[in-house]
Amino acid sequence: MTDPRPTVYVETYGCQMNVSDSELMLGKLAAHGYDAVDHPDGADVILVNTCAIREHAETRVIGRLGELRRNMKPGAIVGVTGCMAQRLGPVLLEKAKHVSLVIGPDGYRALPALIDGARRGQRASATTFDLEEHYEDFQPRRFDNVKAWIPVQRGCDYRCTYCIVPTTRGPERSRKLADVVRETETVVAEGMSEVVLLGQTVNSYHDGESDFADLLRAVGAVPGVRRLRFTSPHPNDFSTRVIAAMATVDAVCEHVHLPMQSGSTKILKRMLRRYTREGYVECVDRLRSAIPGLSVTTDIIVGFPGETDEDFEETLSVVRAVGFSEGFTFKFSPRDGTPATRMPAELTVPDEVASERLATLVATMRAHSRVENMGLLGRRCEVLVEKEARRGGDLVQTRTRDFKTVLVPGDASMIGQYLNVELTGTTGSTFTGQIVSERRPLPMAG
Ligand code: 5AD
Ligand code: SF4
Repeated sequence: MTDPRPTVYVETYGCQMNVSDSELMLGKLAAHGYDAVDHPDGADVILVNTCAIREHAETRVIGRLGELRRNMKPGAIVGVTGCMAQRLGPVLLEKAKHVSLVIGPDGYRALPALIDGARRGQRASATTFDLEEHYEDFQPRRFDNVKAWIPVQRGCDYRCTYCIVPTTRGPERSRKLADVVRETETVVAEGMSEVVLLGQTVNSYHDGESDFADLLRAVGAVPGVRRLRFTSPHPNDFSTRVIAAMATVDAVCEHVHLPMQSGSTKILKRMLRRYTREGYVECVDRLRSAIPGLSVTTDIIVGFPGETDEDFEETLSVVRAVGFSEGFTFKFSPRDGTPATRMPAELTVPDEVASERLATLVATMRAHSRVENMGLLGRRCEVLVEKEARRGGDLVQTRTRDFKTVLVPGDASMIGQYLNVELTGTTGSTFTGQIVSERRPLPMAG
């Protein structure tokens, strides 16, 4: 009898880029004879793909590594991958004796060999950047079979002063347009009709010949691509060409996630975001006038060094003026080695103040979403069924083109289908809807 195939379990933290990297790692290991399992107990190899963006993300991983040590099968190989691995390198090997491998985002090609070495008792830290590495020959093993996450760029060349990403993911580099198109064709052939292009500042994509506008046009032209999204863009990289491509490529969805970070020009400058409050608002205006019905979501940090009550008020006023459909809000978390940690100590915002601002910001954003969403009740729209709803009860979770979540009666057999629904109820953030057989035009406003 031959030995059973070894098993691997991957647990992913952080952003979609990490999810995509986990898909690549699993693909690589599947090609080397591993079976993926969805539980760590009993797995031969356990990989924890980590995030370093805020301190909280790292504390969670440390806690999780302790838990895994207590429950893992004797002799299992534990590897830490991703941004926290890149940031801490060999220090992690010293701190966690049950961890054999520490591998940064550019080191996954060596995974099978490093695991073999670990079986022989070797412990290794692989954290060299490889600017040529796009894992072109890997066949990702995808977690999601409705939408495909396709990385188009790795790393980041901005140097926002709060951000650890340039340190953990290295300099920006783009995949070749033809490779992205080829991957798109593959996912369409596998039955997916929605594609999400991924990059740290995805709209700065440039492969030497083609820019992001070319990429949107090329991916949008692949037969079978019905929805095209991208995340996350930087306001300064929305060239007229890119906006024109968004407006003319039918598959590009009417939603953009546009991180603002702050509404105070003084704080934006200190963050090295390279735009002003007015510049951000102007960018939203340009996008909205080119793409009717565009919904805009954002990321905002509160409590950045030197943020006064007045600065925070400026953030609130932009939030009210722009009307974000949704916002992800964070308390500033100092990351070792980033320029923000070297700002004068007297600029530090006390934690209670930051917490209070966070609560005010969340309430302001929620109030807007509620009003926006109430105003959409009765509207009909096309949704794509993504998965069974978490709260069960014969409901499926679907999404509109403009990124609203709608719960609709249905079952798992409908996953991947497009439906026309009428929005019948809202919690303020998500909707309930009823399927309608046919899409009727909306009455004219006014
Ligand atoms: N502290 C708090 N939030 C941060 N982000 C990035 N770095 C930090 C930090 N040091 C937020 C930004 C970014 C999102 C992914 O995480 O808002 O857009
Ligand atoms: Fe971090 Fe700024 Fe790069 Fe985004 S653009 S990854 S916030 S440095």
